[in-house]
Amino acid sequence: MTAATHDWLNNLPKIELHLHLEGSLEPELMFTLAKRNNVELPFESVDQIRKAYAFSNLQDFLDIYYQGANVLLVERDFYDLTWAYLQKCHEQNVIHVEPFFDPQTHTDRGISFEVVITGISRALRDAESKLGITSRLIMCFLRHLSEEAALDTLTQAQPFIKHFIAVGLDSSEKGHPPEKFSRVFEKARELGLLTVAHAGEEGPAKYIWTAINDLKVSRVDHGVNALDDPALMQHLVDTQIPLTVCPLSNTRLCVFDDMSQHTVLTMLDQGVCVTVNSDDPAYFGGYMTENFVALAESLNMTEEQAIQLVRNSISASFVDDARKNELLALLLND
Ligand code: HPA
Ligand code: ZN
Repeated sequence: MTAATHDWLNNLPKIELHLHLEGSLEPELMFTLAKRNNVELPFESVDQIRKAYAFSNLQDFLDIYYQGANVLLVERDFYDLTWAYLQKCHEQNVIHVEPFFDPQTHTDRGISFEVVITGISRALRDAESKLGITSRLIMCFLRHLSEEAALDTLTQAQPFIKHFIAVGLDSSEKGHPPEKFSRVFEKARELGLLTVAHAGEEGPAKYIWTAINDLKVSRVDHGVNALDDPALMQHLVDTQIPLTVCPLSNTRLCVFDDMSQHTVLTMLDQGVCVTVNSDDPAYFGGYMTENFVALAESLNMTEEQAIQLVRNSISASFVDDARKNELLALLLND
């Protein structure tokens, strides 16, 4: 790729709709926080951590990802984590973000919900005032845990409900279908929250159907396995329910063997509202720009396709029409 193409993709205004804040914890910050908090890491160096990031599937990754989060203890840690991600967004001209956080990863270690959400929210507010990056936060439930645990988390979250716009569902997909969480998602909707869910990353197309029909999601996270089900593909085209696709994540977790096999542009050309996102950038080798670069290098993505992907993200976002129009103007006047 030429430097000019790389710069064009980096400067293109971008929107991120699928990002786990805990997955943006870079090894350097992990070390800094481990030292500051007197937490022992099972690694000697940043290099050794990076070498451990060779995954063969989602569970391989999740085991290391939950271990990394152990260095996050106090409000300032959650602020620093979120702020580091937002600075990266600023460098890559990411102008609106809708990140996930996993409260149970922290509350199960004895950290209060309040510590987690106040640290994250303070950084998001600073990003808007200092960097001009707008955001909406999404609280995810861990699907390998019970629905009762998710209901308990929703109860703990209620005093802080103004800080987030939606609930989501992440962690180990296979064997944990969306409908396991029907009641807690219904409760969240009654509270006025929107819903999203990871589905069809490693799990079958059937899980995408139940995310849509049982959890009433506004977006499907990943959703790449929709291609196995022609009726579902037609439904996605007809309804324009967006998919938040994460190319580098999919190759690092062996959902696709190689980026040249990735189907995101096929789906785009078929009229599905697909978007491009980084998922867990500290673990998968790149942020938004690197994901767009990978598509340009391995799939010959055109400028028109890149712009359409961002247009899809604007349309899929949870901001009001006024902000959507501002984002669109920033994209088209670029
Ligand atoms: N899938 C499921 N759970 C996750 C992911 C993912 O890609 N990233 C962080 N938690
Ligand atoms: Zn994800």
